[in-house]
Amino acid sequence: MISINSFEDYKKQYALSVQNPEQFWEDKANQFVWKKKWDKVLEWNFEEPDVKWFLGGKLNITENCLDRHLKERAHQTALIWEPNNPNEAVRKFTYKELHSEVCWFANVLKNNGAKKGDRICIYMPMVPELAIAVLACARIGAIHSVVFGGFSFNSLSDRIHDADCNLVITADGGFRGSKDIPLKSVVDEALKTCPTVKKVIVLERTKCNVTMLADRDVWWHDEIKKVSDKCEVEIMDAEDMLFILYTSGSTGKPKGVVHTCGGYMVYTAYTFENVFQYDATSLPLGGTKSGIFWCTADIGWITGHSYLVYGPLLAGATTLMFEGIPTYPDAGRFWKIIDKHSVNIFYTAPTAIRSLEAMGLDFVKPYKLNSLRVLGSVGEPINVEAWEWYYKNIGKENCPIVDTWWQTETGGIMISPIAGITVTKPGFATLPLPGVQPVLLDEHGNELLGNNVEGRLCMKFPWPGIIRTTYKNHARCKEAYFSTFKNYYFTGDGCRRDADGYYRITGRVDDVIKVSGHLLGTAEIENAINEHPDIVESAVVGFAHEIKGWGIYAYVIPDRERKDSDELKKEITATVNKFMGAIAKPDKIQIVSGLPKTRSGKIMRRILRKIAEGDINNLGDTSTLLDPAVVEEIVKGKV
Ligand code: WTA
Repeated sequence: MISINSFEDYKKQYALSVQNPEQFWEDKANQFVWKKKWDKVLEWNFEEPDVKWFLGGKLNITENCLDRHLKERAHQTALIWEPNNPNEAVRKFTYKELHSEVCWFANVLKNNGAKKGDRICIYMPMVPELAIAVLACARIGAIHSVVFGGFSFNSLSDRIHDADCNLVITADGGFRGSKDIPLKSVVDEALKTCPTVKKVIVLERTKCNVTMLADRDVWWHDEIKKVSDKCEVEIMDAEDMLFILYTSGSTGKPKGVVHTCGGYMVYTAYTFENVFQYDATSLPLGGTKSGIFWCTADIGWITGHSYLVYGPLLAGATTLMFEGIPTYPDAGRFWKIIDKHSVNIFYTAPTAIRSLEAMGLDFVKPYKLNSLRVLGSVGEPINVEAWEWYYKNIGKENCPIVDTWWQTETGGIMISPIAGITVTKPGFATLPLPGVQPVLLDEHGNELLGNNVEGRLCMKFPWPGIIRTTYKNHARCKEAYFSTFKNYYFTGDGCRRDADGYYRITGRVDDVIKVSGHLLGTAEIENAINEHPDIVESAVVGFAHEIKGWGIYAYVIPDRERKDSDELKKEITATVNKFMGAIAKPDKIQIVSGLPKTRSGKIMRRILRKIAEGDINNLGDTSTLLDPAVVEEIVKGKV
């Protein structure tokens, strides 16, 4: 339920949430269906770390996403699906229909041996069955681990391994723009090294050729015929795992971020309703007349989890899911979809806005866009120019833009305007939501008080959606988020608080980069490059990129034998594609004979970043390097 109705209200609620967080969140949690209420609201310490919300509470999140709405909104559209090909039919599911689909598939999972606590990997295209699979896992208490369809077999098998999944849900392939992406064959390749996987359920989507392994692989449509649409929910503890979602870190191995059932539910619903001012109770029931919410993110990322599936369904909203890409069949596709479905709230990424801005207004002009009420931005800093273009040309100066800062680890939005209620400021995520207590620290961990300060963004108090652990490796969770600054959660982002007290995220301060809004570890990309047999060593850094936000710059040392540099660069690109996926493809590759290293052998990335940025007059002290001459060579050869 929307609980913030004015700026004054926001200030009051914020103050309350800091004075008495337990009472504040208990109030929100009371709006859901619990099988058993909690005994205690919160227990926490950031040292181990150990955070628990709604201790002793019992629930199932899908009962709250689906069953809870059946009395009032059984015939309201829950999910609208827009296919990649604009000539293919749209699919719509009412809450009642979605409930049945989820129950059907939950029974399929059970029939195939899945049970509470199992880890299930989902590697699918953006079709309704992906959302259905996610919810079906949650219904039976299995832990879903969705892997973005743009990752290739190596990244997929790493993630399946790490989570010890015993079941994989996939499709024969997926449509993206003019391409058919094979998925099942990638799964087959990945599973060669994943003996824990006993079953693969395959959805038919592109009808491409696939090989089905007897006893392991079954078709979704065959399995559905064997079951009913009656499936009771599994009763979960508030702190039972709901899902694992892998995110890149500064080492080559991605981290399995763990979210739990109770806190994640309360936090995603609260942030969805308030930030976007989505009040299902004030909308006409039984149709799709208003209140159409469209989040363009893939369900393979946290934004898709929290604001395409869980947040909107918890709120009883109508959520739109799009299979394709913004430029197919042309760069007007987003705007066409907004008019076609009368989208009211549109939530996308700066990289998409910048690339569509670059295509020119001719792609925007044919569309009215007059159903829009709120615009959102997520995933990376939005530059002022893109913000203004979005505000003027898409929102027609009528729609507030919520620039929402958050992370896979935070579960939901943390710092953001509240649409139409609090102020907006181009380039600024502005103010923390109630319950969120940000601080800026200097490099020694001292809190920077007052305004007009810049430092590392940390949180000093838990919120219900906070990461609980990294799967099977709690030490890594502690190390990555709770060790840099004692007793704080460290976000990895730099941030400025301006004279008015508004927050502006300045970007990552670690070895991960945001490429087109996708978080990628430079070490992970290096590992993929190093799979090429002729590469001795590589170093990857980011450089500012007009459309993507950050581009990937790779320095590579080949074997002495390799002289054909153009051919080698092509091969490296293909290698990255094969092992990690097209999203990690380097924008620039420079062949070098050595890398700047300290005497202890550590690569000086600071220098490589400066060269990649073209900032060569300011390389700092290079005299302590093992081989200072190598810097000169690299500067000369910059691509
Ligand atoms: C960046 C995405 C500036 C930030 C939800 C963060 C942003 C990382 C914004 C998390 C924003 C996300 N302004 N930067 N509005 N939103 N970021 O885990 O660097 O894919 O740490 O979660 O994206 O990326 P992730």
